[in-house]
Amino acid sequence: MSTTSSPTPLSPRSSLATLKGLLPFLKPYRFQFILAGLALIVAASATLAIPYAFRQMIDLGFGGHGERGIQHVNLTFLALFAVACVLGIATAARFYMVSWLGERVTTDIRKAVYAHVITQSPEFFETTQTGEVLSRLTTDTTLIQTVIGTSISMALRNVLLFLGGMAMLFITSPKLSSIIIVMLAMVVLPIVLFGRRVRKLSRDSQDRIADASAVAGEILNAMPTVQAFTHEHIEAQRFSVSVEGAFDTAMRRIRARSLLTMVAILLVFGAIVFVLWLGANSVMQGSMTGGELGQFILYASIVAGAIGALSEVMGDAQRAAGATERLIELMEVQSPIQNPAHPQRLPVKHSQEAKGASLALRDVKFYYPSRPQTAALSHLSLDIQPGNTVAIVGSSGAGKTTLFQLIMRFYDPQHGQILLNGVDIAQLDLHVLRDAIGIVPQDTIIFSANAMENIRYGKADASDAEVIAAAKMAAAHEFIERLPDGYQSFLGERGVRLSGGQRQRIAIARALLKNPPLLLLDEATSALDAESERLVQGALELAMQDRTTLIIAHRLATVQRADRIIVMEHGHIVETGTHTSLVELGGVYAKLAALQFDLHRDDD
Ligand SMILES: Nc1ncnc2c1ncn2[C@@H]1O[C@H](COP(=O)(O)OP(=O)(O)O)[C@@H](O)[C@H]1O
Ligand SMILES: [Mg+2]
Repeated sequence: MSTTSSPTPLSPRSSLATLKGLLPFLKPYRFQFILAGLALIVAASATLAIPYAFRQMIDLGFGGHGERGIQHVNLTFLALFAVACVLGIATAARFYMVSWLGERVTTDIRKAVYAHVITQSPEFFETTQTGEVLSRLTTDTTLIQTVIGTSISMALRNVLLFLGGMAMLFITSPKLSSIIIVMLAMVVLPIVLFGRRVRKLSRDSQDRIADASAVAGEILNAMPTVQAFTHEHIEAQRFSVSVEGAFDTAMRRIRARSLLTMVAILLVFGAIVFVLWLGANSVMQGSMTGGELGQFILYASIVAGAIGALSEVMGDAQRAAGATERLIELMEVQSPIQNPAHPQRLPVKHSQEAKGASLALRDVKFYYPSRPQTAALSHLSLDIQPGNTVAIVGSSGAGKTTLFQLIMRFYDPQHGQILLNGVDIAQLDLHVLRDAIGIVPQDTIIFSANAMENIRYGKADASDAEVIAAAKMAAAHEFIERLPDGYQSFLGERGVRLSGGQRQRIAIARALLKNPPLLLLDEATSALDAESERLVQGALELAMQDRTTLIIAHRLATVQRADRIIVMEHGHIVETGTHTSLVELGGVYAKLAALQFDLHRDDD
């Protein structure tokens, strides 16, 4: 079931048909749509009744028949007011329903897209910029909101007004109407042609905005680096180029739209003025009453207004079609890491003497999807018994972190298997697998929340006491207590208010709180000074007792006490053994050890 499809290049799809992709999101609200439709029909009918009332007023009222005339005028005005009341209520109801739908559906789409995106594997985030995803979640969904919240109802209303107005025109004067129809037909063609162009440009303009926010997002997350290298000016320039690009594209769209609007209005009103001139002649010749001409004028302006509005709406709808296309693309991306259809249970492997999980690698070969030429890991085989501590050493880039990524199943190996408690991890439910693993990553992530919540991330339902116990184990309790508000202290976005070592201890506390059978430590003590390392080291040794631990480390103090040491180079295991046996072997490890003992004699 693992369909491999990374974000595909954007495919040109056929115009407004793309909006069909929104149907699944609209379906749950059928009832509200029907209500909105009813309100719309009532309001359109009321609008169409107004010119008729006018004609009555002019022909029968102002025609001057004494007492009856005045009565008629009163009645007509009363009727006119009644129509206005209906129009007001129905329009408000339509606005309410339709705006509600727009907000509701947009909210649903945002939720669905976000929920989908956060299940993607790291591969997705290597190829997609987060700024782009954010832009889709905000800008694109807002466009869709416009369409559902206003454009659809505007389109429907104007189609109704157009059709109704046309019918009434014919009833009023078939001759003038026939002429006007021919002229309107000539208007439609340029509108359709221009509309196509506008749609393409609107898509471009959205893409440019996504580019700009991606640039900004990355830079804002790296301000100290930007300022340290005094790149503020360059970055401001880069952003400026990006948004100016967006502006230029937007301007091309706006120019096309303006032209479209101008052409539409000129043609429509030109036709109407011409026909009115004919009408005025008819009135003077006596073949038409003044009231009829008045009615005709009003209907004609309704029809013209409807056409104008429709061309506006087309523009919006086409922009929304672009937005929908992009959101649907995002929704269609399938993570290459899928849950198995029938996940196996994870057997418990605890025995009396040894707690923890067993882990085995069988001839694992892996290369990153973005680098298919070079294998990050190859021919990796490994057997780790429950409760063991295995240290992994090797130079930077040897593939140590990659190994952890595979164990967490962020990627699937191209060849070979990884077994947890004897079960291929590809056969396990992803949450079952990851719940069994505690990880302290190389780059610790701190969320913008307080210390308590940051540690509790390891186990959502942990009590405050459990959190504090974990913090104590990770030698984090003391420094947290000394923060201005203790455990309630806000740690800043990405933990900017902590030192590297403090962040690392929070991450260790988080992993310990989870109390997993398998613990993965990726240079978990690298950012610590000698004093806190000694503290954390003690804590980690305690924590390692009842579980299986894989520890990537550079410091020999950590490595020496491991049950087994694995030395990696260029994605291979080159040596395995204990500290003593490897030193005796006199290979890669012995060299490393010699260096380390010289450097760290004071520490040990
Ligand atoms: N996401 C990635 N995409 C492509 N290559 C990667 C990625 N992450 C790491 N690599 C490459 O894989 C190799 C192993 O990296 P890593 O496992 O992080 O090494 P380390 O042993 O220092 O932890 C390196 O050559 C690195 O450049
Ligand atoms: Mg690493």
